Amino acid sequence: MTTQCLPVGEESLRKAAELFRQGQVVAFPTETVYGLGADALNADAVRAIFEAKERPADNPLIVHVAKREQLEGLCQVTETAQKLMDAFWPGPLTMLLMKTSRVPDITTAGLPSVAVRCPNHPAAQALLLECALPIAAPSANRSGRPSPTSAAHVFEDMQGRIPLILDGGACQVGVESTVVDLTGDVPCVLRPGAITAEDIAAVAGACTVASSVMRPLKEGEHAPSPGMKHRHYAPKAKMTVFIGSDEAVAKEIIARYDAADSAAILAHDSALPLYGTRRVFSLGDTPQEGAHLLFQRLREMDELGVSLILAQGWEAQGKALAVMNRMARAAAFDLVNVSSQDS
Ligand code: TXA
Ligand code: MG
Repeated sequence: MTTQCLPVGEESLRKAAELFRQGQVVAFPTETVYGLGADALNADAVRAIFEAKERPADNPLIVHVAKREQLEGLCQVTETAQKLMDAFWPGPLTMLLMKTSRVPDITTAGLPSVAVRCPNHPAAQALLLECALPIAAPSANRSGRPSPTSAAHVFEDMQGRIPLILDGGACQVGVESTVVDLTGDVPCVLRPGAITAEDIAAVAGACTVASSVMRPLKEGEHAPSPGMKHRHYAPKAKMTVFIGSDEAVAKEIIARYDAADSAAILAHDSALPLYGTRRVFSLGDTPQEGAHLLFQRLREMDELGVSLILAQGWEAQGKALAVMNRMARAAAFDLVNVSSQDS
């Protein structure tokens, strides 16, 4: 199969919508990362997503809609869900709600709940309106690779596997949407994103965060979200993340860098001068800038062929929880807190 990559425009949007109606798979931009979409109610179309991604069949997909009316008949929209939709849709918030039998089992990997989201990106909105279908879409990477934040990343992973990629430029947020489970008594964040648990609590009254967000699952522990148990966001290199002041982190990173064969450094802008002529890349200066840049940097590291990535992180809380959850997973939870060594 040849994979076309077309800039977002009236004609390419029409073509993508037509492919969706035919049950085909198309990659498209959202404000978080690129999605690999197909008709969520067509089991064969959804199967083609799993095949193109090489995604394990037990990992459910998110159903994307242009407006909440499209959810009618698909899931039970609770009062809390309504409030959160009022506050955060369109936007990077995915909600787990109880599904109806109209949603095929393959879309939710057999689970009784369905993940729903309304993306805040003009091209995604236009496409969802044009095809008038609920679209199942995981991130458009091959399983185990960093999520794609540009059409070029999608092409790297999906060339020859899908007919069309819509190119809408770089994704603004850069990490995937917040996933919040609304099927229990209190909303619970299973995957942190740009909308924080604090943001959700301010609207819903309360919100917890799954304890496994910043640690590996224990042997035999139930994964509240199947995505948690699969290896994720994995660069080829071994990676370690350091948290502390610029100076304390740089001291530790430089010692390890100088002892290694082929390492690269990811650091905050404010710390870049501390690394001299060593191979160092920017993660910006705020957790939001870090989120925007992280997946691109991980792909660049893979292309360079480095064997060790030494990265400066942030305290894993508030706005920084989203980027730190991804950094921790990319590093197989190899986190080092150097603040105690501060002088
Ligand atoms: O920002 C995003 O959410 C992007 C864009 C394309 O919208 N999509 C995305 O999809 O990140 P994906 O498939 O890569 O991640 C979906 C996550 C997975 O961890 C999956 O296990 C979880 O959501 N999930 C989906 N449905 C679920 C359900 N019914 N119960 C528990 N977890 C669910
Ligand atoms: Mg994904």
